[in-house]
Amino acid sequence: MAEIRRFMAELAISASRLGRYVRSPAAELKAARIPDNEIAALASGRAIDLWQVLLGNGETAAPPPAAPVAQKPGSLAVVGTGIRVVGQLTVEAIAWMKEADELVYLVADPIAEEVITQLNPKALSLRGYYGEGQGRMGSYEAMVDHILSCVRGGKRTCAAFYGHPGVFAYPSHESIRRARTEGYTAFMLPGISAEDCLFADLGVDPCVNGTQTYEASDFLLHERTIDTSSQLILWQVGVVGDFTYRGQGYDLRGFPLLVQRLLEFYPPSQEVVLYEAALFLGCPPTIQRLQLSQLTAEYVNAATTMYIAPARPTTPSARMQYALRDVQQATGAQQAPQNGE
Ligand SMILES: C[S@@+](CC[C@H](N)C(=O)[O-])C[C@H]1O[C@@H](n2cnc3c(N)ncnc32)[C@H](O)[C@@H]1O
Repeated sequence: MAEIRRFMAELAISASRLGRYVRSPAAELKAARIPDNEIAALASGRAIDLWQVLLGNGETAAPPPAAPVAQKPGSLAVVGTGIRVVGQLTVEAIAWMKEADELVYLVADPIAEEVITQLNPKALSLRGYYGEGQGRMGSYEAMVDHILSCVRGGKRTCAAFYGHPGVFAYPSHESIRRARTEGYTAFMLPGISAEDCLFADLGVDPCVNGTQTYEASDFLLHERTIDTSSQLILWQVGVVGDFTYRGQGYDLRGFPLLVQRLLEFYPPSQEVVLYEAALFLGCPPTIQRLQLSQLTAEYVNAATTMYIAPARPTTPSARMQYALRDVQQATGAQQAPQNGE
């Protein structure tokens, strides 16, 4: 069996080994006594070469790796800590946080903060950039500037955000964009988002009848339309219309407008689910079900995500069903089931 198979399996479950590999891949491969042909396959960066090695198809035909391009010092890894850090933190996120020269973070609970500071005692919270009652966008720009100053200082920088770092998180995407523009290595690792937790806790599949997703203020302020035969997820319903940061509760005077707008698509009796994923191990999620006509701002907070199930059957497209049948008959393929599975 290829040595690389055992080695990679160990990296998959050991954050400390993956951390050492992140810091110095060559030294870690050497210490693990990985044969040269397997190292060459890995260094090629081509999945096909690794498949050859993993399937035992003899010596890899991988050409010698190109001479490494001199990298500008300084890099950025953006990672997610999941919603419930106990269990939802990936091995890869742990490795990058641990090995960072500079670790900055923005998380939603003290356990996540404890984990991060245990992993890397130099870790610094970005929360201080929020100002009570001040626009969130200005705070996000200050966070981006901070992250970029670490990268420009030549540091292996890691920025950790709760949930998935790329889901409704401006500073993470913007930091990567700017770092890359300036020639630094910058990338994002996925995390478990509130939406991932929602699918698990509510027992719904985003692909069954499809799912439309909007940020609540964006939904309100633009001429969006809802396909009520699909599922609907609205993020940030508990801060709708308030673009400032408020630690003690948001200004939700605009909330009735959101309900009014939803009533243009759904009947007053439509069930609305207000969902909050559990932050702590052993605690259940909060799931409130009420009729749209009963919905008021007092039911939501900054961590609430709204879910509405399909309210009517889907409308089949006879035109496309005939067109698909014609194509399949012409090619002799089997007819696809109507639900697309
Ligand atoms: C700025 S976004 C951050 C999302 C986060 N990056 C993620 O991956 O889930 C904040 C919104 O995420 C959703 N959210 C955050 N925490 C949540 C939780 N514990 N349960 C449900 N939704 C949550 C809410 O819609 C909230 O208003």
